[in-house]
Amino acid sequence: MGHINVIDAIKERSSKRKFHARPVEKEVLNKILEAGNMTPSGANMQPWTVYAVSNKAVLDSVGERVITHIKDGGDVDQFIQYYPVKWIKPYKLRRITTGVGLYDKLGVERRDKERRAELWYDNFRWFGAQTVLFVFVDETLIDGSQGALIDCGAYMQTIMLAAQEYGIDSCPQGSTTEYGRIIAKELKAPENLALLYSIVLGHEDDEAIQNSYQPDREAIEELVTFID
Ligand SMILES: Cc1cc2nc3c(=O)[nH]c(=O)nc-3n(C[C@H](O)[C@H](O)[C@H](O)COP(=O)(O)O)c2cc1C
Repeated sequence: MGHINVIDAIKERSSKRKFHARPVEKEVLNKILEAGNMTPSGANMQPWTVYAVSNKAVLDSVGERVITHIKDGGDVDQFIQYYPVKWIKPYKLRRITTGVGLYDKLGVERRDKERRAELWYDNFRWFGAQTVLFVFVDETLIDGSQGALIDCGAYMQTIMLAAQEYGIDSCPQGSTTEYGRIIAKELKAPENLALLYSIVLGHEDDEAIQNSYQPDREAIEELVTFID
């Protein structure tokens, strides 16, 4: 496996949603986590507390617990609200375009609620992967301040880019944010830890159609104000 340069890693990473059922090799996982630890953070706080779960029984039970909760009509049960409460322009359109693009690729009709629900549940089946990082933060670090969330976001990207170096694919998950309290309990995490998100890591099924999906990005002129 040759080295990948940073720009290639950035461009080649995309969220994968179907994986082969095998965990990330321990040695590789450690290297990815070592790289993750080099993420810069304010005051070198290193606020991420990570559960790296490759135990199938644990992943199954966490996922089943959430799916059962949702099927029983349970509400979200979270530490932080990830998505906006109000979806305004242009974000709403971006969200819809991205979602529709994925469903179209998979040939899922917008009205096909059952299929869409299954795709949502796939998040909690870890898209078939067998290694998931659950990233927590100490609740006192986000009590009246948000900086640790910025740091933990940067951590997410470091992990996913480092994974590229070792041929490991990923999917970041805000779906788990929404059921963070249920997951934290199932993982027997201490009371002070708030689950922020998870990252699925593994070997993508490169024949899966959903894995060829890479939603477009805006032109930088839309997002950047140049002051020369
Ligand atoms: C914080 C965060 C949470 C996300 N949550 C989910 C998720 O729960 N399920 C999912 O399938 N994709 C999730 N995604 C993936 C995004 O949909 C994806 O990054 C975006 O559409 C851009 O596509 P790309 O990652 O393939 O470049 C998440 C991404 C981020 C950064």
